[in-house]
Amino acid sequence: MDLELLLGIISRWIHIGSAIVLLGGTICLKFVVGPVLKDQSQELKEAVRGRWKRFVHAAIAGLLLSGLYNYLKAFPLHRGDGLWHAMVDTKIILALGVFFIASVLAGRSKGTQKFRDNAAKWTTIAILLGLLIVAMSGIAKVVGSKGKTIDPTTEFFVEPGR
Ligand code: HEM
Repeated sequence: MDLELLLGIISRWIHIGSAIVLLGGTICLKFVVGPVLKDQSQELKEAVRGRWKRFVHAAIAGLLLSGLYNYLKAFPLHRGDGLWHAMVDTKIILALGVFFIASVLAGRSKGTQKFRDNAAKWTTIAILLGLLIVAMSGIAKVVGSKGKTIDPTTEFFVEPGR
């Protein structure tokens, strides 16, 4: 198999897999683990936080590496494609916000304690942003280049009918 094709498939697996772990794990924490741990000992809560932190870091690394690779590969194919850039560029900025929230909620540094004091609120914000990112990525993937062709001279996308 062509190496570029193989890397493309592996990168997609890592991207989707990491998104599932980060978003799915956060939803599970909010609606399943969190309520069960509510009246449990601080020691147990700390143990869960410590283990979840490893998954958060691995998922962020996976999303950043595969996302960057996807972006570099997709960028030349989407020159002048306004919808694709609106969706993907905005989603990347939102993703950095999600990474920050997920990291500070799973972290222990004193400076970010105020986020953990309001963990329920920040977890909800991270989940909503994550769902928005998935929605925007889907639009970029399906609608971004639909029906458009690349002008061989400018290498820009041409809208249908032009
Ligand atoms: C919370 C973080 C993120 C989530 C939940 C997420 C989710 C997704 C999903 C579901 C797709 C569609 C994949 C497909 O259908 O094959 C996608 C595609 C993509 N993502 Fe992400 N992503 C995240 C972060 C990032 C970051 C940080 C980058 C860039 C550095 C990035 C760049 C891309 C690119 C370039 C695509 C391809 C778009 C296309 O096919 O036209 N993503 N992402």
